[in-house]
Amino acid sequence: MTQQEILEALQEVKHPAKGEKSIVELGMVQSVEILEGSTIVTLAFGRRRDPLAEYLIGASRAALVRLGCPGPEVRTVVVDEQPAKKPLELGKEGLAEIKHIIGIASGKGGVGKSTVAVNLAVALARLGYKVGLVDADVYGPSVPTMTGTEGRMPLAENRDGKDIMIPLEKYGVKWMSIGYFAKRGQALIWRGPMASTALKQLVLQVEWGPLDFLLVDMPPGTGDIHISLIQEIGIEGAIMVTTPQNVALADVEKCVDMFKNESINKPIFGLVENMAWFTPAEHPDEKYYIFGRDGGARMAKELGLKLLAQIPLVQGIRESGDSGEPAALGTGPDSLAFIELAEKIAQI
Ligand SMILES: Nc1ncnc2c1ncn2[C@@H]1O[C@H](COP(=O)(O)OP(=O)(O)OP(=O)(O)O)[C@@H](O)[C@H]1O
Ligand SMILES: [Mg+2]
Repeated sequence: MTQQEILEALQEVKHPAKGEKSIVELGMVQSVEILEGSTIVTLAFGRRRDPLAEYLIGASRAALVRLGCPGPEVRTVVVDEQPAKKPLELGKEGLAEIKHIIGIASGKGGVGKSTVAVNLAVALARLGYKVGLVDADVYGPSVPTMTGTEGRMPLAENRDGKDIMIPLEKYGVKWMSIGYFAKRGQALIWRGPMASTALKQLVLQVEWGPLDFLLVDMPPGTGDIHISLIQEIGIEGAIMVTTPQNVALADVEKCVDMFKNESINKPIFGLVENMAWFTPAEHPDEKYYIFGRDGGARMAKELGLKLLAQIPLVQGIRESGDSGEPAALGTGPDSLAFIELAEKIAQI
């Protein structure tokens, strides 16, 4: 591995707010050290906090990992820059015009949180509400694909010395995802605190404007990221997504416990049973309970939660997720299930 190869790899790391120039072009790479068993890249940042710093550090580390550098490490130094600008404060003022901030959570991965979050957002917009959605899954963002906004880049504007990102708009919803700042298929590698900071920026450093609902598509699990996310952005409460099989119960329970935990103590508005039954496209009236019948209702009862919706497992929902046109835009029974869910959420 040579310094030149590393610099070439770092050319791939573009600064989204600086005309897509690479960190190398921008002179941010202060040093590259190739030691035995470790590779240390030092990035220089100005005193003013760069809103995308955490992203750039993560992307640089990912570039080193992809190149196969041993022991990749990205360090930062602060350099003086002129003229001095106001320090950036990630206050919650930007959220002042948002009526409800709701997390879409589940203890378990792959149960359809993102599918439910995206479709609920579209359904609420169809009902006439002003809606935004943050893809808080910094490790595996799926909102860009599910909404067909992949490859687009949110603009950043400087307001009074603060860089503010403008969310993308499509289907009447404002979308924000770390995925907009990464290349397709690029692995995002974060350490816990970096992920938390990046996430905070994705919510707090965005010009949402007035919204009735800001939905937060949470990453799977119940770790530190979740707790800081809920506390720092002031999530009002959560919707829990699950699949009906018995083995999902323990994960849902863990997630419910997290929200009830003393340091969080936020309400859970109810449970959404996803993949409640399977309906083949050619036999729309048939229901096959492949993960067991009424699992969602049983879980809801056991946990003292409302069952907000039952979403069928249909090929169309998967296809619409892959094609970037959410099922909730349509008129079929799957679309209706999301509209009904939206009507319930609108009562919160
Ligand atoms: N009701 C459904 N019918 C058909 N396919 C579905 C349904 N719900 C989700 N899927 C598909 O299942 C896959 C996983 O869904 P999704 O990405 O929404 O889950 P997730 O809980 O957000 O996952 P992760 O934990 O990785 O964030 C996707 O391909 C999605 O299209
Ligand atoms: Mg997801």
